[in-house]
Amino acid sequence: MKVTVVGAGAVGASCAEYIAIKNFASQVVILDIKDGFAEGKAMDLMQTASLNNFDTKIIGTTNDYSKTADSDICVITSGIPRKPGMTREELIGINAGIVKEVSTKLLEKSPDTILIVVSNPMDTMTYLVHKKTGIPKNRIIGMGGALDSARFKYRLAEALDAPISDVDGMVIGGHSDKGMVPLISKATRNSIKVSNFLSEERLDKVREDTKVGGATLTKLLGTSAWYAPGAAVSSLVQSIACNHMKIFPCSALLEGEYGLHDLCIGVPVILGRNGIEKIIELDLDSADLNHLTESAEGVSKTNSLLGL
Ligand code: 2OP
Repeated sequence: MKVTVVGAGAVGASCAEYIAIKNFASQVVILDIKDGFAEGKAMDLMQTASLNNFDTKIIGTTNDYSKTADSDICVITSGIPRKPGMTREELIGINAGIVKEVSTKLLEKSPDTILIVVSNPMDTMTYLVHKKTGIPKNRIIGMGGALDSARFKYRLAEALDAPISDVDGMVIGGHSDKGMVPLISKATRNSIKVSNFLSEERLDKVREDTKVGGATLTKLLGTSAWYAPGAAVSSLVQSIACNHMKIFPCSALLEGEYGLHDLCIGVPVILGRNGIEKIIELDLDSADLNHLTESAEGVSKTNSLLGL
């Protein structure tokens, strides 16, 4: 199992590290355009192999796509991260060109690969890859909801004062500060609805804190977060690589599901060896369905900036 990660920045390197530590891939290739940067990150990570007990071989390359040839899965993290006060959508001007170039070069060397898009604005970048590459829609996956759901569970566990392993919850919709849809009504603490434990007011705070989870960290860190994004991507990669058939909310191309067409947005999908094995249509209450529809309007508006 060969995985390529494009972008040796914090998110890409964290993703590569978590993939290696989970030890399901034979090889991880990290590619970056900055001279020596990916090679350095790969060497530093390989020097943890004996300490973290993994056999995955990590190599780095400065923009040599031949090293990525025949990758089963390729993760695109390249592009600029946002700064405090920026929205993800403001990155589109620079990141669209990068994502277009990177996806094209990856497919030249690995025509059957599965692409996972992380670069922001992620839903629009995922849509761009569909439009520019034309590969089967099951092989293009946007990572946002897995991260947002992890933040949602963190906030729920905080509010419940409960172990996070007891908490389950999902965020669908756009990976944007305003467009996320935390499914409060479906969230549980060990199969018990969280509304049994928390007031409406406290659940509203959980919802809002979740939606700005990325922005909160960007304000604290001065740049985008990387540990949780890297871990979220590695979880998607593992389900695909090991054909686990796990369900994650991912940005997928919709063609009528949830009444939505011609856009990529976060919905629950089953991830296996074929990438998106199935899109799951949840039974949403009217409020959540309205929020999803509104979120889709926002994503479509950002998509229109691509001028496709
Ligand atoms: C985040 O929410 C980078 O979009 C990513 O942290």
